[in-house]
Amino acid sequence: MKMIRICPSILNANFNDLPNEILKVAEVSDLLHLDVMDGKFVPNTTFSYEEAERIINYSKLPVDVHLMIEQADRYALDYLETKASSITVHYEACENPLNILRSIRKSGKRAGLAVKPNTALDEIQNLFEEFDMLLVMTVEPGFGGQSFLESMLPKVSKAREWLLERELSDTWLQVDGGINFETIQKARKAGADTFVAGSVVYKSENPAATIVKLRKLADEG
Ligand code: DX5
Ligand code: ZN
Repeated sequence: MKMIRICPSILNANFNDLPNEILKVAEVSDLLHLDVMDGKFVPNTTFSYEEAERIINYSKLPVDVHLMIEQADRYALDYLETKASSITVHYEACENPLNILRSIRKSGKRAGLAVKPNTALDEIQNLFEEFDMLLVMTVEPGFGGQSFLESMLPKVSKAREWLLERELSDTWLQVDGGINFETIQKARKAGADTFVAGSVVYKSENPAATIVKLRKLADEG
């Protein structure tokens, strides 16, 4: 059985107390998922580069940066200077996805490529050898708390098939958006191994217990 990774997203955490919010989940999580939005690629703004860098520096967990920003292949370069463990760019926001994926890898970080719901896997089929993680968005990027798009499950299954066919066993398959106690099992069955969970974690009374439960459910799935 493949390893499962749970990545809490702090998008729905209390932004005025982020160090403490991160501590709540640090013991039981694999990565901290940091959503950077520029108000252009998506209609919402979160952290500036300086703010993101500060969070990356004090996070006890390795940080998985999800860049929802325009001209990602240009601005992602700044993040190579940080201590983030992985950097994910959106295919739709890159002029030259191949170059930026290679630069991320060269910096020693894991390179992630994200696709929005309307982007078909066929568009990125030639890039499969070039990333360490594929992020299949299971909501339209921009906001936490949206419903999981069940219509993305065949895309997750197809991505898993392609990874198997190409023997890319070290490439992670991440889903992001609408993950809860029910949808995590569906996504797991479809072949995802890395799960972002935002509001389900931070709207719960006990974020750590929620993560433990999500992991257990994914393990059963
Ligand atoms: C949405 C972000 C997600 C978000 C997920 O664009 O990329 O990471 O935080 O939040 P939930 O789990 O509430 O859908
Ligand atoms: Zn995200």
